[in-house]
This record gives sequence, structure tokens and C-alpha cells, in this order.
Amino acid sequence: TLKAVIFDLDGVITDTAEYHYLAWKAIAEELGIPFTREFNENLKGVSRMDSLKLLLSQAETPIAYSDAELDQLADRKNKLYVELIEKITPADLLPGVTDFVKEIRSSGVKTGIASASKNAPTVIHRLGIEDQFDVIVDVNTLKNNKPDPEIFLTAAAALGADPADCIGVEDAVSGVDAIKAAGMFAVAIGNAAHFPHADVVLDSTSQLNFGVLKAKFEGQ
Ligand code: G6P
Ligand code: MG
Repeated sequence: TLKAVIFDLDGVITDTAEYHYLAWKAIAEELGIPFTREFNENLKGVSRMDSLKLLLSQAETPIAYSDAELDQLADRKNKLYVELIEKITPADLLPGVTDFVKEIRSSGVKTGIASASKNAPTVIHRLGIEDQFDVIVDVNTLKNNKPDPEIFLTAAAALGADPADCIGVEDAVSGVDAIKAAGMFAVAIGNAAHFPHADVVLDSTSQLNFGVLKAKFEGQ
């Protein structure tokens, strides 16, 4: 039986995936590295430093950066990102999310956030939704990044739910892989071609319907 729904944040609850993309694109342009939306799919759900390394791997003539230089580039990307999220208000919740979360909670099912972003607490605060989630995993306490299941397993444990009784919602390929590795039911938001491993793929958050997903979860 369904006990909890665990959400990714960026690109699922609000469109911060777009802000991560814009900030990385600015860094790529500075460095003269080609950077497309298609390539950006690989960065979704990936930690700041790992994202930077993936981006740098796209250079036509790869350069060996020192750890200090890598830290500076990652910091610069984060400053650009932090500027973008300063403008977030509750109006930036993606369509359908508020009602979906309300339906989950009113059915007695728990809710959690499993975001790899160190900026997640700020974003959640600006959206004004802290009280809608029973747990927000602190990424600083984790050892492994998505697609490792640790973040989803940590959320489930904090909610007292068996992973088999959880649904995970993600917009990242690495995130869907983390949900499946955790033994959960995976709902992906985005282009179905990107998510062969998801149990359900929705084009947009406006299609999130608790009754429909619960029935699919129970029929799996
Ligand atoms: C999420 C996003 C990624 C981002 C990562 C780290 O997983 O999907 O695009 O790189 O968080 O975010 P941070 O805010 O800590 O740089
Ligand atoms: Mg995401």
C-alpha cells in the first residue's frame, strides 16, 4: 500500500531546472564550450561539481583545471543560480503541484523532498511550501549522488515507509534511475524518450493526478 510520495525539487515542484540550465550555459559560453539543451539533460539531478566536470568534458580542446579553478567555476555558476532563485515566489510552483500535494496529504499519505541541490531549502522557503512536506532530506548528510538510491532511501526511512510503498517523482534520468534502484515506483516528468525505466511518464506536472497514479501504483 502506498505510504509516501517523494519528490525531486528542481524541474518537478518549480522550474529551477531552467535556472540551472541558464547558469551552466553562461559558464559554458564564457569558456567557449558548446552547450545544448539536449546535453543539459545529462546534468539534471547531478551534483554541482559533477555537472561542471561533465560540462568541461564537452570542450573541443580539453583543459586540465586545478581543484581551485574547478571550485571557482562551480562557485561562479552557483552565484548566477542564486541570483536567479532570488526572484522565486509561490507563483512559481509548477501547474498542478499544489493540488497534487494536497490530495496526497488528505489521503493520509506522506510527502518528502529528495533534492540533490544545496539550494533546496532556499527554494522551498521562497515557494512557501515547507509545511507541505513531512521530510526534506539534507543533501549535506549523504555520501552518494543520484543515480545512487541513497537520497530516496533516506527520505523513505525518515517517513517510516518501506521503499516498495513509495512513489518517486523526477524530471532527471539520474533521478529516475535512483528511484528504481531504491525499489520504488517511478513517475517521470518530461519527454518519454528520455525515460525508458520509468513506470509512468507525464509530459507535464499539470497531468499529476493522485487518483490515477495511486491506481497505477496499486496495479503494478
Ligand atoms: C539538482 C539539479 C541539478 C543541480 C544539483 C545541485 O539535482 O537537478 O541540476 O546541479 O541539484 O544543485 P546545487 O544547487 O547544489 O548546485
Ligand atoms: Mg530535477
